[in-house]
Amino acid sequence: FSDFLTDTFRRQHDYLRISLTERCNLRCVYCMPEEGVSLSPQRELLTTPEIIMLSSIFVSQGVTKIRLTGGEPTVRKDILPLMQHIGALRSHGLRELCLTTNGLALHRKLESMVDAGLTGVNLSLDTLDPWQFQIMTRRKGFDAVMKSIERVLELNKHGAGIKLKINSVVMRGVNDREIIPFIEMTREKDIEVRFIEYMPFDGNKWNKGKMFSYSEMLDLIRLHYPGLEKVQDHKNDTSKTYKVPGFVGKIGFITSMTHNFCGTCNRLRITSDGNLKVCLFGNAEVSLRDILRKSNGGEPIDERAYEAMRQIEVSRQQAVSGQPTSLRLAPNEHELLDVVG
Ligand code: GTP
Ligand code: 5AD
Ligand code: SF4
Repeated sequence: FSDFLTDTFRRQHDYLRISLTERCNLRCVYCMPEEGVSLSPQRELLTTPEIIMLSSIFVSQGVTKIRLTGGEPTVRKDILPLMQHIGALRSHGLRELCLTTNGLALHRKLESMVDAGLTGVNLSLDTLDPWQFQIMTRRKGFDAVMKSIERVLELNKHGAGIKLKINSVVMRGVNDREIIPFIEMTREKDIEVRFIEYMPFDGNKWNKGKMFSYSEMLDLIRLHYPGLEKVQDHKNDTSKTYKVPGFVGKIGFITSMTHNFCGTCNRLRITSDGNLKVCLFGNAEVSLRDILRKSNGGEPIDERAYEAMRQIEVSRQQAVSGQPTSLRLAPNEHELLDVVG
């Protein structure tokens, strides 16, 4: 395993999240203001070849899982060619190619994505009620999202093997009544429904009262399903996994507010404008884009790649020196959006 992906705590960063865009076709109340977020000029965003080059550099160094995120990654027009090129890195050690999406446009491109090597979909859906969907996302589109879920399950019936997780942000008084209906989805379907603790921050007006904690969720769920069982978590999972005995699917909790998981975090992040970040809440960033663009005077690609890797090493060491970053309660909007899309 490459040294530069191993930090001073011996955590091996073999999971790379690449944000393809800051744009999104929804306006979820907990994520974005109605008017959207300010967007970087096109020239500052990574191009298709740059994303492909960075992916192959990281895979050559030991990254085995790449997740494409946004904003909403499917609003990027070149998503298919990108996935095809990244998917081809399977022969160089890539094992998983995943997408975090709101599912609005997924059903249209899903089959080609699977052909390209898509292995996992994390789909954001906070409600099973079309009216509530419109309130929470400030847009229409519930049917399209449900269609995407059905398509994934349909393809899986034919052996596609796509790992499907539904991410559901729980907000008190808004959609907390839907926890049980979401769990019912796991009765017969091989889905992992993950409940996310709502994170208050500047952009969503710091509404702390709307946070519904992991322990409250567990109490509520145990009233309905007293036999709820803990399932072994995977080593670097952000979620705590459970299951209702006899149900096909699983339930998870992403406890960003009450129990951080920084100690086992193995993620690297590239923002849509090409900055490498080791930690969502850390400030150290290095512009891979500038490194790639600076030396275009005929310098061989592997030398430019080498320079990029040296810079990454510096940034990684800076970001993780000291102690594992603990979660601060106030991620700013931009940082959060790097992760969520
Ligand atoms: P897999 O483990 O690969 O299924 O994905 P994931 O859970 O890391 O990613 P996803 O894009 O589905 O994000 C789900 C939630 O995890 C979001 O609410 C993110 O804000 C949160 N998240 C992802 N990575 C981190 C992290 O490193 N730190 C924190 N605090 N939250 C994270
Ligand atoms: N609190 C919790 N989760 C959030 N997400 C976006 N904003 C927030 C927030 N303020 C979630 C999205 C998506 C996941 C990637 O991050 O709903 O499911
Ligand atoms: Fe878009 Fe995801 Fe933010 Fe909703 S949570 S506005 S789908 S980026």
